[in-house]
Amino acid sequence: MHTPHTRTLALASPEQTCAAAQTLAPFLVAGDVVLLTGDIGAGKTHFARCMIQSLLAIPEDVPSPTFTLVQTYPGREAEIWHADLYRLTDTNEVFELGLIDAFESAICLIEWPDRLGDLAPQSALHITLSPAVEPDARMMTLEWQNPVWTRRIAAALER
Ligand SMILES: Nc1ncnc2c1ncn2[C@@H]1O[C@H](COP(=O)(O)OP(=O)(O)OP(=O)(O)O)[C@@H](O)[C@H]1O
Ligand SMILES: [Mg+2]
Repeated sequence: MHTPHTRTLALASPEQTCAAAQTLAPFLVAGDVVLLTGDIGAGKTHFARCMIQSLLAIPEDVPSPTFTLVQTYPGREAEIWHADLYRLTDTNEVFELGLIDAFESAICLIEWPDRLGDLAPQSALHITLSPAVEPDARMMTLEWQNPVWTRRIAAALER
């Protein structure tokens, strides 16, 4: 078991949340899983949209996967999976959706990852968006155990 690591960022606007997503995006490779936690309207889809759009070979819209549960995109380096598991009722659906395989082979961005229960990969990067005092501000906490994230997050955020 690795020691948990954590970093917290203050994001003053949706643009700053987008910039944080774009800064982390180039470090993602196939097999990476980013778990996005936060209440309804926290900015999970906003963050994921910015991250995905900066990884796409050909620009396209990134709708919220609220109803489809999963949307996939051809990224430059790997396939991208964007999931919103809010409506998931049974952990068996995680297998049926193909998420377990995607965790290994794709770049996965997962909203409402609490629905995964024990199926959440140990190596994932956990990102939590929380409200701040100003309505357009958020706190973003990054947490990880896999040391691979330590170097990437340092490189992304401490330039
Ligand atoms: N600093 C901020 N970062 C992210 N989003 C922000 C920020 N300030 C305001 N917003 C707004 O908050 C809303 C976030 O909506 P979004 O769909 O991303 O939430 P969500 O966390 O995905 O919710 P859901 O659980 O319903 O999927 C957007 O309208 C966005 O413009
Ligand atoms: Mg969402």
